Amino acid sequence: MKPDTIICRCEDITYQDVLDAIQMGMRTVTEVKKAIRAGMGPCQGRTCGRLIAQIISQETGKPISEVWDSSHRPPLMTTPMGVLAGGHCDEE
Ligand code: FES
Repeated sequence: MKPDTIICRCEDITYQDVLDAIQMGMRTVTEVKKAIRAGMGPCQGRTCGRLIAQIISQETGKPISEVWDSSHRPPLMTTPMGVLAGGHCDEE
């Protein structure tokens, strides 16, 4: 893999960015995510999460099960206060 290979296309994070985060001491997908925003894009890491875990595993020698701690969130939408209050809301 080349240093400029895109790992997280949502956040435009490269392989070198992930390596730099690991070099700074990040040892889990969540730590890398918080450090460089990898996995914080619209797909919430569904595309890049496993790849980031594999890179961390490769670089640290830890099994993927130890570094893959990413917490997936369900796709939720905001609810306008008017809907919660029982009123009509024109927002879609
Ligand atoms: S590809 Fe990384 S968050 Fe979508």
